[in-house]
Amino acid sequence: MFVTEIPSIKTERFLLTVLRPEEAELIHKYYLENRNRLAPVEPERNEDFYTLDSWRGRLIASYTNFKCGTAVNFVALSHDRSKMLAGCNFTGIVMGPLRACYLGYSVDKDHEGTGLMFEVVSAGIKHIFEKVKLHRIMANYMPENERSANLLKKLGFEREGFARSYLKIAGRWRDHVLNSLLNPDPEL
Ligand SMILES: CC(C)(COP(=O)(O)OP(=O)(O)OC[C@H]1O[C@@H](n2cnc3c(N)ncnc32)[C@H](O)[C@@H]1OP(=O)(O)O)[C@@H](O)C(=O)NCCC(=O)NCCS
Repeated sequence: MFVTEIPSIKTERFLLTVLRPEEAELIHKYYLENRNRLAPVEPERNEDFYTLDSWRGRLIASYTNFKCGTAVNFVALSHDRSKMLAGCNFTGIVMGPLRACYLGYSVDKDHEGTGLMFEVVSAGIKHIFEKVKLHRIMANYMPENERSANLLKKLGFEREGFARSYLKIAGRWRDHVLNSLLNPDPEL
C-alpha cells in the first residue's frame, strides 16, 4: 500500500513536506537563487526550466508520482512556509523484490555548511525506510563532489562501485561513484 497522505515532518529547523503544483513559487525561487551553483552538478537546463510555468508542470508530474508511489520529492521549508531551504528527492521507487530508489539532494546557498542538509536527508531517509518500507536507497556523486561524498559517508552510505560515463551533467557524460544505504530493519 502506498503512502498517499502528504508528509509533514517538523523539526527544529524546518518543515519537510511534498509541494503541490499550486506552491510552485517556492521551488521556482529556490532554483533561480541557486542557479549558478547547481548548474555544474545538474543536467543542462534551457531557459524554460527557470520559468514558473515549467515548475508548475514539473510539480504536477512529481505530485502524480508521489500519489502513484514512484517518487517522494521532499522539500524542506522554513516553518512559516515562506522559503524553500533544501530539496531531497527519492525517485524511481520500485517495489517487488527490489524495493529500492535513488536519492538526490541540494541545499540553499545560504544554508550550505550548516548541517541542515544532513538533517533534511536523515529525516527523508527515516520516512522512506519506516513508512514507504524500502530496502535500499542508492545515491551517486561525481568524484570531485567532496561535499556530497562527505554527506553520504556521514549518513552511513557505503561505496558499491564506480560507473564510467554514468550521467550527462552540465552537457558532458560524467563518471560517478555509486553508493547505497540498506534499511536497518532486517524484516524489510
Ligand atoms: C552536496 C551538498 C548538499 C552538501 O551540503 P552540506 O551543507 O555540505 O552538508 P551538511 O548538511 O552535511 O553540512 C556539513 C557541513 O556543515 C558543518 N556544520 C555546521 N554546523 C553543523 C551542525 N550543527 N551539524 C552538522 N554539521 C554542521 C559541517 O562542519 C560541515 O562543514 P564543512 O564541510 O565545511 O566541514 C551541498 O554542497 C549542495 O547543495 N551542493 C550542490 C548540489 C549537489 O552537489 N548535490 C549533490 C549531487 S550528487
